[in-house]
Amino acid sequence: PTMEEFIVGMPKAELHVHLEGTLEPSLHRKLAARNSINIPATSDNVSGNSNGYLFHDLTSFLAVYYPNMEVLLTAEDFFDLAFAYLSKAYSQNVVHAEMFFDPQAHTSRGVSFSTVITGFRQAIVKAERELGMSASLIMCFLRDMDPGFAMATLTEALPYKDWIVGVGLDSDERDNPPSKFASVFARAKKEGWLVTCHCDIDQPNSIAHIRQVLRDIGVDRIDHGTNIVEDETLVQLVKERGIGLTCCPVSNSVVTNDFKGREIVQLLRQGVKVTINSDDPAYFRGYMNENMMKMAKDADVTKGELIRLQKNAFEISWISERKKEKFI
Ligand code: ADE
Ligand code: ZN
Repeated sequence: PTMEEFIVGMPKAELHVHLEGTLEPSLHRKLAARNSINIPATSDNVSGNSNGYLFHDLTSFLAVYYPNMEVLLTAEDFFDLAFAYLSKAYSQNVVHAEMFFDPQAHTSRGVSFSTVITGFRQAIVKAERELGMSASLIMCFLRDMDPGFAMATLTEALPYKDWIVGVGLDSDERDNPPSKFASVFARAKKEGWLVTCHCDIDQPNSIAHIRQVLRDIGVDRIDHGTNIVEDETLVQLVKERGIGLTCCPVSNSVVTNDFKGREIVQLLRQGVKVTINSDDPAYFRGYMNENMMKMAKDADVTKGELIRLQKNAFEISWISERKKEKFI
């Protein structure tokens, strides 16, 4: 098979995708119409400046991303969003997906937590039943908001504990170190949730933040985290603990102009459990297959290494050990 056929045909797991980041312009317009919301012409997230986007780094991306969520109001809206993503992922042979969601981006504008999670949950149940996929939810806290709001959100989520596999940390990393949320994550662990944190690409204090998530928070995974290559002791630490990194090459290329292929390959060859994911595929214009293709084309990753990347994903996934055996 050609490289593309090989990638398309491979059963894949996705571990780093923000459901709000799967809002395609067409669905955005449809939900706006359904809810009688006026959206500005500039909210079309793919038209715009020279590189085709209205953003060029994490901060300017988030400035488009959050306002676009205003069209999400009812459980049906959240259902439609998640089911559209799951259908797309299924069409690309993604057999398991762990999906982030940002409850605070919705509760802060008056949408109830139960509306959000009920819609998402119904989409997962339908995908499992009708497509034979497996999928789960990871609840993220917004790091540019108050830790008290994160803790209140954690409490609100407790009645839905079984619908959430773990918790994460996302949004604007600048001046928002992981340690700000140490007590929130300690509580999440006590409740039995697994833990991951975004350590975005080339942030100020990247290494300090990675050290915090490993030493103070005690994460089970790191989202992005490729700056770890700068510190050999941290590379050894993640290897020893079997901590995986969820890397997102197409996303990297948009927010930093560098897809970090070299770093991802270096870590892979050093035996770190790195994985390939799509992050916000509707905004960065690349689902799983496009991200895998980018690694093959621009980082000269071999077919054997592409298999290793997907094996890593199933290994570090948060599916039950019994289910994992079926995949690996
Ligand atoms: N929220 C959605 N996508 C994100 C990203 N790439 N980094 C931080 N927060 C995000
Ligand atoms: Zn992300």
